[in-house]
Amino acid sequence: RLGSQFVQPAYALAPSARASARCASVYTNRTVMCQAASVAAPETVPATYPNVTPHIADRAQYEQLYQRSVTDPDGFWGDMAEQFHWQRKWDDKHVSYNFDVRQGPISVEWYKGGVTNICYNALDRHVAAGNGDVPAFLWEGNDVGRDKTMTYAEVLDDVCRLANWLRSVGVQKGDAVAIYMPMLCELPIAMLACARIGAVHSVVFGGFSAEALAGRIEDCQARVLLTASGVMRANKKIDLKKIADDAVKLCAKNNFKVETCLVYDNANAMPRSECAFTPGRDVWWQDAVADFPTTAEVEWVDSEHPLFLLYTSGSTGKPKGVLHSTGGYMVYNATTTKYAFNLSPGDVYWCTADCGWITGHSYLTYGPLLNGATNVVFEGVPTYPDAGRCWEVVDKYKVKQFYTAPTAIRSLMRSGDSHVQKHKRDSLQILGTVGEPINPEAWRWYHDVVGDGRCPVVDTWWQTETGGHMILPLPNVWQQKPGSATLPFFGVVPVLLDEKGNELKGEAEGYLCIKNAWPSTLRTVYGDHERYETNYFKPFPGYYFTGDGAKRDADAYYWITGRVDDVINVSGHRIGTAEVESALVGHNHCAEAAVVGFEHPIKGQGIYAYVTLMEGVEYSEDIRKDLIKAVRNTIGAFAAPDVIHWAPGLPKTRSGKIMRRVLRKIAAKEEDQLGDVSTLADPGVVQQLVASRQAAL
Ligand code: WT7
Repeated sequence: RLGSQFVQPAYALAPSARASARCASVYTNRTVMCQAASVAAPETVPATYPNVTPHIADRAQYEQLYQRSVTDPDGFWGDMAEQFHWQRKWDDKHVSYNFDVRQGPISVEWYKGGVTNICYNALDRHVAAGNGDVPAFLWEGNDVGRDKTMTYAEVLDDVCRLANWLRSVGVQKGDAVAIYMPMLCELPIAMLACARIGAVHSVVFGGFSAEALAGRIEDCQARVLLTASGVMRANKKIDLKKIADDAVKLCAKNNFKVETCLVYDNANAMPRSECAFTPGRDVWWQDAVADFPTTAEVEWVDSEHPLFLLYTSGSTGKPKGVLHSTGGYMVYNATTTKYAFNLSPGDVYWCTADCGWITGHSYLTYGPLLNGATNVVFEGVPTYPDAGRCWEVVDKYKVKQFYTAPTAIRSLMRSGDSHVQKHKRDSLQILGTVGEPINPEAWRWYHDVVGDGRCPVVDTWWQTETGGHMILPLPNVWQQKPGSATLPFFGVVPVLLDEKGNELKGEAEGYLCIKNAWPSTLRTVYGDHERYETNYFKPFPGYYFTGDGAKRDADAYYWITGRVDDVINVSGHRIGTAEVESALVGHNHCAEAAVVGFEHPIKGQGIYAYVTLMEGVEYSEDIRKDLIKAVRNTIGAFAAPDVIHWAPGLPKTRSGKIMRRVLRKIAAKEEDQLGDVSTLADPGVVQQLVASRQAAL
């Protein structure tokens, strides 16, 4: 069945133990110094950037707006919503929420009484205002020279055709639609078409395996799947249709039927003649959709109508279907996009994220279109054909705002400055980063070399669950510090807690929580509201728990220190260690596995797997390859372990719980800093692991 790939590894905490745990020391596995902390003064960076005129004049105006946003959310967020089209206006008192499990079920409601449609606001509104000829998408293919422009009017036409097709195959308001596509314009178009008819899109990143795709399709019961024949990423051909077919077969095995597959013939990468085709189920996109009319009625929905599901990894179990709703997400998204990137209508903006992740939802599809910007949609990778590709594309389209991940910055930095300096980059004004903490060295390079010191770096901290930016430096509004996300966005009240749940004041380090609801708070975990409460609201009653640790310095700036739970962040991709472990123990020779993150120069974190084989089985290179293959097949290639350490045993407490802290230290070669290991059932295991490490590397 659905969860078969998520069998609990032998050592995992019993679910009830986790569910009943109430304090962070049980939930979190990493030691966080919950105490007053001082943060070293960083190098200074320019306070002002003459070519960036921010929408908000200065820090004082921010403070004033911020105060109102947290003391009068109804009024503040009401004003922010005015620019959109609402078929029916929201009530004066439109915000209500409960963040305290002790007071009853967790609930969040924004723009109560309001009726709208995000697709209408992202497209029709601009076309109606006479801006139909403004380019919405500047598509740049994997190969240099393959490109295409689509105006807002053209995108709207295609969205309507597809919306009509979706209706023709029986998709109704509230139905989930799975999307497994490469970065063609048709991917955001598919998302918008779903939104137009009130269907709930569930985009699955094209790097996920058939098994992972099947698990997500089944969880949300999507009867319609949108996919493509294949795609080229750099020199590698990816056979998406084959993976999609395998996923549909897996679903069928579990008695779930995907009724219709709409397949985009991405002929350049993989012509339809090379694809398997199941008549009655499969339909070629270009044939089926083209003849539908270019107008399609808008489904007006309540503000709280679900907009999309996006699956993300947590500390335990299978990925969670994070659910975002319409009104609050729309307004928060548009507002953060506008201020974070100092965006104005018509700006050429480029976010390198894939729509398979939240960044591609919020800051490629919805945010920029809601603001009437021109979006670069890039099918390729930053290092193909060479490490200058991004800057070539920046010059080609005169990109003003560029948004990418630290992992990309670090890998480009390695390739040398000459790739950057070959290109002018004089159109750039704002540089953004997202996905993981950015190390000051990479920050410096991004700022000094890519931006020639002219462009502020906007380090945006947020999560799939938050839907939009939470902590970030508004560009040229206040002083940046390399490595700090600085201050909260409007409406966000971050707090640092100690392990007992006390709020820490002033300079401090602790668990990063959010005190009140913001408009794009996740509304639930699809199909499992209890898991939503357990994960996010029970660790610290009264607060949303982010899973991150953070420090606050003397200037009240936040410095994210990274996850404190069993989630690792590899190249900005979020991976649950439990999922990798479960894939490993699924191998019939594997007795036990424990996975931790370790520092990786490019990826931020790499995946380090300790594996104990069944008795009598010899460790071999073949088994190592097989284990890695098991992870690729269960999750996807991006989750493949970097290191497999053949472990004679694992460090466990007397109650059988793995001490991951110890495993992290051994992986980091810091076994001299193990701390207290007196609770280990067999302290000798530490030396055995250190001694066996050589073979792993
Ligand atoms: C986790 C969320 C946000 C979209 C992409 C990732 C880490 C994210 C930053 C940042 C330090 C960051 C956190 C967070 N993270 N942005 N600017 N500085 N850490 O979304 O997959 O939901 O992962 O990414 O650990 O909890 P996600």
